[in-house]
Amino acid sequence: MLSISVIGAVLVIVPVALGTVHMEGRCPNYIPVPNFNRSQFLGEWYEIQRLELDELLNADCVHVNYAMNVDGSTVNVRQRMQILENSPRTIEKRGYARYIDPTGRLVMIYNETDPTASIFDYYITHTDYHGYLIATSCENVNNTHYAESAWVMSRGRTLPPSALTVVNQATQHWNPAYFRHTNQDTRVCSSSHKMALASIILLMALLTILFLR
Ligand SMILES: *[C@@H]1O[C@H](CO)[C@@H](O)[C@H](O)[C@H]1NC(C)=O
Ligand SMILES: *[C@@H]1O[C@H](CO)[C@@H](O)[C@H](O)[C@H]1NC(C)=O
Ligand SMILES: *[C@@H]1O[C@H](CO)[C@@H](O)[C@H](O)[C@H]1NC(C)=O
Repeated sequence: MLSISVIGAVLVIVPVALGTVHMEGRCPNYIPVPNFNRSQFLGEWYEIQRLELDELLNADCVHVNYAMNVDGSTVNVRQRMQILENSPRTIEKRGYARYIDPTGRLVMIYNETDPTASIFDYYITHTDYHGYLIATSCENVNNTHYAESAWVMSRGRTLPPSALTVVNQATQHWNPAYFRHTNQDTRVCSSSHKMALASIILLMALLTILFLR
């Protein structure tokens, strides 16, 4: 049985709890995509890979939608994911992001009125907008350690072959043992499966219309 629980609290795109690795040292200096094209970045993204030490939450089938707010000042973020356990659950999280400058650096905002909410920098370091993106976030947790998160996202459920070389190069400094390929298999990500089925039906309908003309 698939149950859908919508989390009311304003959460972000990529909650820190979803995948963080603690390491010794200071946060690396990320270089966000220069001259970032905001409108091209918006839309649907599927998570392909995630930096993750413990699989506590064990979320898969992560799918994120970025949509410009009406006044253009913020980006609404809607994230859907599934916990693939014996009885799979779908979780939906909402939050928002603000751009800091014309680069791919965004600030992700948890519920601002919640005193325990945190704000964190989120860097899109690589993207071709239509195929893949690589995003990172980091926080110096104390004087000796930092907590880093990283994601590889794709416009489709798998990375386009043309993106493999650049993605592999850009992610090679992360320990592959911590960089989990998350599940986007249509057979297990059933809501996506329904969507795929819907597009097949739509395609068939379009083909039928074409043939009838
Ligand atoms: C934000 O947090 C406050 C305090 O915890 C809560 O009352 C409020 O409902 C939250 N807002 C949203 C949109 O979740
Ligand atoms: C962003 O991309 C859109 C669509 O390709 C294009 O029309 C627009 O000029 C671009 N904006 C910038 C600032 O490059
Ligand atoms: C700093 O944080 C790391 C990781 O959370 C922890 O293992 C370490 O004990 C902390 N050091 C101090 C001095 O608090």
